[in-house]
Amino acid sequence: MNYIVVDTYEELGKKASNIIASQVIMKPNCVLGLATGSTPLGTYKYLAEMCAAGELDFSGVTSVNLDEYAGLDGSHEQSYRYFMDTNLFSKINIDRDKTFVPSGIAEDLEKEGQEYDRLIEGLGGIDLQLLGIGVDGHIGFNEPDSVFTAETHAVELDESTIEANARFFSSKDEVPRWAITMGMKSIIQAKKILLIANGQNKKAILEKAFNGPVDPMVPASILQLHPDVTVIFSEN
Ligand code: F6R
Repeated sequence: MNYIVVDTYEELGKKASNIIASQVIMKPNCVLGLATGSTPLGTYKYLAEMCAAGELDFSGVTSVNLDEYAGLDGSHEQSYRYFMDTNLFSKINIDRDKTFVPSGIAEDLEKEGQEYDRLIEGLGGIDLQLLGIGVDGHIGFNEPDSVFTAETHAVELDESTIEANARFFSSKDEVPRWAITMGMKSIIQAKKILLIANGQNKKAILEKAFNGPVDPMVPASILQLHPDVTVIFSEN
């Protein structure tokens, strides 16, 4: 594993965007697995800048996002589809028809999960998966559990996740309690993984995930089994 510690959030964004840019340059028709949350915002900003400067071409790229809140339509400002459209897709020359986010409003989330897995399989899998990490060790919304769940599935969010994400909503009560998340199989089968984390509050969980035992109660620990993981951590 390649574990990089940087001093600032800006540096984290620059390094992560350079890694994603290299992937797009090396394989212009690659499949990028993408994440939402605060951590990738800087990375997405730099990717948008590179694209605007004509240094990067996303026209051949397909993207698959990790997760979506259950019950939120893509036009809802807190939905992850809206986040991606606003913070990245509208700022780069990706074909919006080739950007995929699981649907949080599908009538049958289990069926939606199966279809999402088939979609990823049909694309030939993910070339580079960008991940953040929750304070409870979640990746995507794979929350601590007694097992690792392979398939894309509906999940009840942990209290710590709801608390952490309440900052984006006007109150904690508005945070959806359920989500749909890509399962571990598609994540672990990605050819390369790039996990980014920033802030003191992520330090302990990173230590557990990468230096502790592989344990479904620390979902990110499964990444220890992956042959090509880069972690970039900025404490500030
Ligand atoms: C978001 C996702 C989550 C976040 C994690 C960290 O699509 O999959 O696992 O990456 O909750 O979020 P931030 O970056 O806001 O600390």
